[in-house]
Amino acid sequence: MDIKSENINKTYVKKGLFNIEILNSINIEILSGQKIALTGPSGAGKSTLIHILGLMDRPTSGKVYIDGIDCFKNNDKYLCAMRKNNIGFIFQFHYLMLDFSVLENILLPVWSERYIRLKYAKSILERLGILDRQDHFPNELSGGEQQRVALARALINDPRIIFADEPTGNLDRVTGLEIERLLFEISSESGSTLVLVTHNEELVSRADRVIKIVNGKVCT
Ligand SMILES: Nc1ncnc2c1ncn2[C@@H]1O[C@H](COP(=O)(O)OP(=O)(O)OP(=O)(O)O)[C@@H](O)[C@H]1O
Ligand SMILES: [Mg+2]
Repeated sequence: MDIKSENINKTYVKKGLFNIEILNSINIEILSGQKIALTGPSGAGKSTLIHILGLMDRPTSGKVYIDGIDCFKNNDKYLCAMRKNNIGFIFQFHYLMLDFSVLENILLPVWSERYIRLKYAKSILERLGILDRQDHFPNELSGGEQQRVALARALINDPRIIFADEPTGNLDRVTGLEIERLLFEISSESGSTLVLVTHNEELVSRADRVIKIVNGKVCT
């Protein structure tokens, strides 16, 4: 699926304070199947941007088109369905549910279909090399394993677009690189679009395109 943003602005209004402008007129176009590395200094607005592109947060103004559909014209229920059907999201820190097992965490996004999806969930775990951990709880796993579970959860709906916000969190460099490499591999296999916030030079050079955000603007 392709993604296009048109003049995205994001401003936070703090009572009694001036407005804080986070994103300023972001225009980007990402073609279906492209692998994009999103880079830029801390505080530049990368997370804010992918939350908006991933339909988890609304911009103050501007549009996001996914396969030509003007998404924010629609209500939250529509956005939710669009995410459920098409989008996988991996956060900087895994945000796994600690009281749920690995398998349950992965099935959460498709809970009403969990029995039908069980086999698929297990096949993803196998692909990520953690099938033997399916009944463990998140705090029984290493950081790298937790992030693989978060990756599996993002893949359970067979997303056409994957967003990953520096999925390396507090992992060491080698483990973090492994997770990012896996993401590249898997999105290439499935032909899905990938937008990855990363600072890793190897992955930046492997990306089809690099988009750099500085001070809330696309830096060209
Ligand atoms: N809810 C909020 N209210 C006010 N300001 C916010 C809010 N959320 C984020 N910001 C500000 O927006 C700016 C951009 O934040 P964002 O998280 O998008 O940056 P980032 O590029 O992802 O940085 P990092 O690389 O450190 O993750 C920061 O200055 C941050 O303080
Ligand atoms: Mg961020």
